[in-house]
Amino acid sequence: MFNIAAILLFVVVLLMLFSLTYLLPALEKLKNKDNCTTPNELNKAEQWQQQLSNTNGYVYAAIGLTFCCLLFFVYMATNGTVWQGHLMEWLNIVVRLMHITFGIAWIGASFYFVFLENALNRTNNVRDELAGNLWAIHGGGFYYLEKYKVAPKEIPKDLHWFKYEAYFTWLSGFCLLLVVYYFNAKAFLIDTNVLDMAPTTAIAIGIGSFAGAWLLYDGLCKSPLAKNTLLFAVIGFCILVGFAYFYAHVFSGRAAYIHFGAMIGTLMAANVFFVIIPAQKAMVKAAKEGNYLNPQLGKNALFRSIHNNYFTLPVLFVMISNHFPSTFGNQYQWAVLSAITLGTAGVKHYLNLREKHQQSLWVLPVSIMVLLGVAFVTAPTQGGECKTTISIAQVTEIVNKRCVSCHSAKPTDDALTAPPNGVVYDTPADIAKLSDKIMQRVVITKTMPQNNKTNMTEPEREILRCWIEQGANIN
Ligand code: HEC
Repeated sequence: MFNIAAILLFVVVLLMLFSLTYLLPALEKLKNKDNCTTPNELNKAEQWQQQLSNTNGYVYAAIGLTFCCLLFFVYMATNGTVWQGHLMEWLNIVVRLMHITFGIAWIGASFYFVFLENALNRTNNVRDELAGNLWAIHGGGFYYLEKYKVAPKEIPKDLHWFKYEAYFTWLSGFCLLLVVYYFNAKAFLIDTNVLDMAPTTAIAIGIGSFAGAWLLYDGLCKSPLAKNTLLFAVIGFCILVGFAYFYAHVFSGRAAYIHFGAMIGTLMAANVFFVIIPAQKAMVKAAKEGNYLNPQLGKNALFRSIHNNYFTLPVLFVMISNHFPSTFGNQYQWAVLSAITLGTAGVKHYLNLREKHQQSLWVLPVSIMVLLGVAFVTAPTQGGECKTTISIAQVTEIVNKRCVSCHSAKPTDDALTAPPNGVVYDTPADIAKLSDKIMQRVVITKTMPQNNKTNMTEPEREILRCWIEQGANIN
């Protein structure tokens, strides 16, 4: 039943896409302005084109929605079968790839425009209406760009807007949060040793915290505090530390980090959606109607845009942090996160200063010191001496008891349908092959067993450490 409905839907979407590919350009040609002779005809043609581009939007939304329905069908059809884990993995791949691609486009554009702003030639032969210009060479071509002080006398018809990069990065990021953390909240979001709660509560806290963070930040930006850059930065950072502390005390280590990054990412996307784009729309409207153009609009947008620029490196760190248990697995992971946020934002500050040709001798070294300090503080301590030789039998016994419920070709754990990251410990060779990772996850960072769900003890971790230090022999 589900399958037939899904196939039918799919066919409908394909047919729609196929016909639109040929229909829309044909319609547009039919109403081409070049064929119009009277102003009345021209006017009509323009209206037509406007309507066409509006319908385009609806059509794409319909296609998007249909795909969501399809996905739902597939989910329902595979739920509880052997394909469920496989489906989740593919969803993860697709959504992650989209998120990374949109993110690169957004952050790339953001870096590029802040670079432009910093590197503009503002003095040499600059026309009166311009803020500056810049010559560049890229991809085998010469480019010449000009920035206006406020706006050109006439707004050009084809004005490129940078906004979908931001929206799609946020949307795909949110989907990734759903796929990885919220669909399987029991396994990945909640750590009962940190706080025991129902999945719905945890998800509500996660999503609610994004809205709360935006209200707080937006209020701060509109307050008189925004005029004092240093004070604003200090208070803003303290609030970030507060969020890191909060997340660390409600979620599992990994989920805490991701929520911190998603929270900042939400601020960034909301800056684009609620402040930057509306300001730009108002500017374009005022310029078109020849009204007074309030320069404060542009300044507000730039203010948020600069925040977004400082947020980029911390967010990028958080997005890759899931691969580094020595950061999120640390006892004081919120402090580690705060320090890395400070250090990476400092590096960004240095890069901005350099683009502006401003000398700064201390910003980069201090930022690097902060980051090195984190590496130093999180370094593992030397374990005690191993008195006896550990046999593989002892090791397999522990692994069978504490790991195999999840790390087996067919996990028995209630939250998993496939071995996490494909890691299985069904034979001694499997265990020995990954001994360095076991050292990292079980002995040093203690991030395995996940949330210590299987109640591994300290002496057991010591036995694994000694076995690995003695060469991880399986005979
Ligand atoms: C409750 C389920 C569960 C138990 C029990 C568990 N793990 Fe894991 N393990 C996971 C999950 C989920 C991941 C993937 C997420 C991550 O890396 O944190 C993982 C990842 C790992 C990785 C990283 C693999 C990689 O590719 O980076 C190692 C190593 C590991 N586990 C070892 C162990 C060992 C050793 C034990 C037993 C002492 C154990 N795990 C017990 C769920 C579990």
